Amino acid sequence: MNTMNNGLEGIVAAETTLSMVDGTRGELVIAGFPVAELALNATFEETVWLLWYGALPAAGELETFRADLAARRSLAPAALELLRAAAAARIDAMDALRIAAGTVSLRAAASASRAGGDAGLRTGIAGSALPARPVAASTMLAPATPQPSNPAAPHDGDDARNLVAVFPTIVAAYWRLLHGQEPLEPRPELGHAANYLYMLTGQTPDADRVRGLETYLNTVVDHGLNASTFTARVITSTGSDFVSAIVGAIGALKGPLHGGAPGPALDMVFEIGDASRAEELLRRKIESGERLMGFGHRVYKVRDPRADVLNVAAERMFARSGDRKLYELARVVEATAVRLLAVYKPGRNLQTNVEFYTALLLHGLGLDVPLFTPTFAVSRVAGWLAHCFEQRKANRIIRPQSVYIGPQPRGWRAA
Ligand SMILES: CC(C)(COP(=O)(O)OP(=O)(O)OC[C@H]1O[C@@H](n2cnc3c(N)ncnc32)[C@H](O)[C@@H]1OP(=O)(O)O)[C@@H](O)C(=O)NCCC(=O)NCCS
Repeated sequence: MNTMNNGLEGIVAAETTLSMVDGTRGELVIAGFPVAELALNATFEETVWLLWYGALPAAGELETFRADLAARRSLAPAALELLRAAAAARIDAMDALRIAAGTVSLRAAASASRAGGDAGLRTGIAGSALPARPVAASTMLAPATPQPSNPAAPHDGDDARNLVAVFPTIVAAYWRLLHGQEPLEPRPELGHAANYLYMLTGQTPDADRVRGLETYLNTVVDHGLNASTFTARVITSTGSDFVSAIVGAIGALKGPLHGGAPGPALDMVFEIGDASRAEELLRRKIESGERLMGFGHRVYKVRDPRADVLNVAAERMFARSGDRKLYELARVVEATAVRLLAVYKPGRNLQTNVEFYTALLLHGLGLDVPLFTPTFAVSRVAGWLAHCFEQRKANRIIRPQSVYIGPQPRGWRAA
């Protein structure tokens, strides 16, 4: 007798070495590192490498990987044209990202047709499952024909690197087009996070801002079998390609139940405006049945560990630059909200979640609210791809069942 779990709640559908989410103890471990340790110290490139290869890179490996990703940042002309059309139609930034991400398939095709001719694109050809480690600079010069050992998925390694590399370019280019500005060429000498901020604003970001963004990107890079990650794994499990898996995952992340609503959390802080109004306004909201954005979580029944990390990052950033008063206000709003939720919703354990400090941190970095979810995708794409590699390695098509509750078989009657 099959049991039905609506929403697959409580079902274990995969083994993973990528992240461990403990909702009772409030712990998130990413590839063996407590999230705080990794997020506050690593560059985003180090985190991507860690997820894809299972260990931190050696200095030389990191440098080569960084350079390889940087060499893949440019947009294909077709992607730019699509983004111009998207901007003319003023569509949502996540839709623009989904449309342009599909053009990464053109790069894999170009790479295959040039096999042996482009060292930069050649470095990531997939082995059995993982992307090939980047070849050292000296060996990159030697011509070599790619020999994918998984003929069914010859582009996995290239696709993965191209996708991670180009996401920030797509988001930044779209944002600028939307605001009547021409996209900026990526700057290969800047790291992944710094270059993203540069392409958005046209200004070289200072070290504090880069550290703030790296911390955010590292914090949200992977989080168990969430809906978009599951989507990517389902698509990969059919033997499809990584670009398809990522385009599907973008679609899943876009939904308001998943991509989150850090925007409304920020709106709430702005609406309160002054610490003296926090208690009265929050009480009114709860009493009228409104949910306080940035509080509560399906898995975490204690404080979301990602909120702590992002709070530290926000505090550091706001201490040196930015609107310190806003940060202080947010702290008061948070403390008041948690206290009132415990009074109005006893036993529910409603604590601060990742969205609250995401909003504060990204706002402090100068990002506008419509960029919050696409920036989440700039990070999570690396986690999705790590899961795609993992799925490839131990694949079994993901194929649950449904219970038929429609009409019993009936005979056809011509109208
Ligand atoms: C995240 C969320 C959907 C998880 O919900 P959940 O685990 O399914 O919890 P439930 O919807 O079953 O809610 C349990 C109770 O707590 C209340 N509750 C949950 N989150 C609340 C919030 N943020 N503000 C006020 N009340 C809340 C519900 O109204 C419900 O109360 P009731 O039992 O008296 O009806 C929910 O906490 C929420 O909507 N939070 C606000 C939105 C948000 O921050 N989303 C980002 C999540 S990362």
